[in-house]
Amino acid sequence: MYYKTISFIKALYGNSRFVPLSAPCFIGNEKKYLNECIDTTFVSSVGKFVDRFEEDMARYTGARKAVVCVSGTNALHMALMSVGVERDDEVLTQALTFIATCNAISYIGAHPVFVDVDKSTMGLSPDALKEWLVKNAVIRNGQCHNKISGRRIKACVPMHTFGHPVRIEEIANICAEYHIELVEDAAESIGSKYKGKHTGLFGKVGALSFNGNKTITTGGGGMLLFMDDELGTLAKHLTTQAKVPHRWEFKHDHIGYNYRMPNINAALGCAQLEHLDEFVADKRATAATYADFFQNVDDIVFFTEPDNCFSNYWLNAVILKDRNAQQTFLQETNDNGVMTRPIWELMNRLPMFEKCEHDGLENTIWFAERVVNIPSSVRL
Ligand SMILES: Cc1ncc(COP(=O)(O)O)c(C=O)c1O
Repeated sequence: MYYKTISFIKALYGNSRFVPLSAPCFIGNEKKYLNECIDTTFVSSVGKFVDRFEEDMARYTGARKAVVCVSGTNALHMALMSVGVERDDEVLTQALTFIATCNAISYIGAHPVFVDVDKSTMGLSPDALKEWLVKNAVIRNGQCHNKISGRRIKACVPMHTFGHPVRIEEIANICAEYHIELVEDAAESIGSKYKGKHTGLFGKVGALSFNGNKTITTGGGGMLLFMDDELGTLAKHLTTQAKVPHRWEFKHDHIGYNYRMPNINAALGCAQLEHLDEFVADKRATAATYADFFQNVDDIVFFTEPDNCFSNYWLNAVILKDRNAQQTFLQETNDNGVMTRPIWELMNRLPMFEKCEHDGLENTIWFAERVVNIPSSVRL
């Protein structure tokens, strides 16, 4: 049934027998920088690439301070802690996300509350957010509380799904009105911008991921982007075991975390970042090719970047007619060497989060039944 689409994707990726969803691309200084780490023995917590990667990323994104972490998940954990999320707080987020968003909230002992996504972005909807807050929130002593549960609502975590920016300005305004901290899960959106500003910079902190399937990779890794120097400096301290600087003494002034990215991973990151703009341009060209092709395919819609946005098109997505069509498409593509994947199981359907409050999630469920990600690797 989807023979034409399968042939098109295979041809786009050089007619290889198996087309992965998102493979890394190493075309620059990766080997040189990795060899330098090995030759100098600086493969671990000491070495010049960690500082350089942070500086390069701050410059690239426009963040005031960038702090590298071992993963995007622990960058999110640290981001939530750095804005003061505590045990038993509530955190507003989307059910249509990768599990890491909710895991990070849970590490603190806070509770996710799920609000719906937008049809135009696939990310958290400012309309749904406002509606939920009008119904459920009350401000007491300058802090937002859930009228029913009584818990403090401390933060909101929108996620830029597949690299497409959410309507982040409106979300930021609503958060400000309700005294809620905005933490962006920008794990998928390196290189993506909203009205020309890099994602992750609209609240006090955002988190990126450099997992192997992302637009650039460090093997495993993440990055915190801060617009507040002081918070950034504190996060750097906490991610490095809260060690008080001294040439030989081991003194620590907080419960810290071993979340520091090793030099060998940062070396890979520096080399990858040198080609990020090329990778994004290539991914956008692939997306444009897909968009053209799917215009002439019945019952499949290619998802394009929302208004005001420059998307990295991390993972291309198509929308099938219904759940049956989605399942058939998944079966046929995967049977024929084209790797495709459905959207993640919704968070509110997982046993750990099935009791969490939500707003009905109409659009979220609509997408879950129809979306399929199709091959999106850089083709350089
Ligand atoms: C939306 C989202 N949040 C968080 C993460 C976590 O990143 P990591 O795998 O680097 O821990 C990922 C990706 O892996 C993600 O897609």
